[in-house]
Amino acid sequence: MKDVVEDNARVRDANAFQAKASEWPRTFYGTAWKEGQTAALVTKALKAGFRAFDTANQRKHYVEADVGAALEQACLAGLAHRQHLFIQTKFTYPAAQDARLPYALGAPIETQVAQSVSSSLAHLRVDHIDSLLLHGPTHAHGLSEVDRRAWRALEASSADRTVRRLGISNVSVSQLEALLSWAEYPPAFVQNRCFAVTGWDRDVRHLCRAAGVTYQGFSLLTANTEVVHHPPVVALAASLGLDAPALIFAFARQLGMVPLTGTTRWEHMQSQLASERITLDAALVEELERIALP
Ligand SMILES: NC(=O)c1ccc[n+]([C@@H]2O[C@H](COP(=O)([O-])OP(=O)(O)OC[C@H]3O[C@@H](n4cnc5c(N)ncnc54)[C@H](OP(=O)(O)O)[C@@H]3O)[C@@H](O)[C@H]2O)c1
Repeated sequence: MKDVVEDNARVRDANAFQAKASEWPRTFYGTAWKEGQTAALVTKALKAGFRAFDTANQRKHYVEADVGAALEQACLAGLAHRQHLFIQTKFTYPAAQDARLPYALGAPIETQVAQSVSSSLAHLRVDHIDSLLLHGPTHAHGLSEVDRRAWRALEASSADRTVRRLGISNVSVSQLEALLSWAEYPPAFVQNRCFAVTGWDRDVRHLCRAAGVTYQGFSLLTANTEVVHHPPVVALAASLGLDAPALIFAFARQLGMVPLTGTTRWEHMQSQLASERITLDAALVEELERIALP
């Protein structure tokens, strides 16, 4: 009986999940490397129209607490409502942290995950996190026993709905295949650095599509400067009344991605949000997909 109840709960959850998927953000505002400007830039991004924010409980690169302070302030000021915000953060292993850890060094991984989640809730001043990512596997190849235990701990944090969605970042196609084969709560998201030279992470994207996982792409501009500045791309964007970054963002969405941007400039925020309304010709999407393939 318990199994049936749990299965039904999971089916209901999966359905709610699908329903919500169509309402998922089409662009994330990324908050890495903003240090003392974090709160001001989050407020600016909210004013520009962003409602989805990406951070991490990794003080080395993010100030998660300032993201939370800015979002809370915006809600109190009536600029946004919590239910319209999508807040995503990450659990990061000690190897990718500096000394400012959100958990006890040397504690079992299950404890570290639980402490990191508690700390994120406090930093973000929320009672639930919309999406929590494992920042990356322990090794470049394969998934380790620590990864498996960390994922189980993340699953436990989502069991009471404190965490609504799980995801994983910086994964290869074989790592994602492995995770999908044993995860009880499969990832809703993959977040990867997206290189044009790999067909914009084609293999991982295709696996995501087949498995119903939403692909989030970062460094779309910074990892692909040769494409962004490629004269035919610039000319094509101009012919559509866009700048090249907006063209790349619109293209990325048509490939099924949710792009992240960490821009600091108002006009870039506006152009990247405006690119949500652009639909490109299918032939053009195919051409751009192949543009940097060797
Ligand atoms: N999971 C991970 O391991 C991981 C790793 C890295 C990043 N991330 C996430 O991804 C987010 C985004 O990072 P990112 O690597 O994509 O880079 P980014 O930090 O967003 O940098 C984008 C760069 O492109 C420029 N830019 C943006 N729009 C432009 C436009 N329309 N025209 C010209 N220049 C433009 C920005 O300059 P301006 O400020 O002048 O616009 C900035 O220098 C991060 O904040 C973080 O949340 C995750």
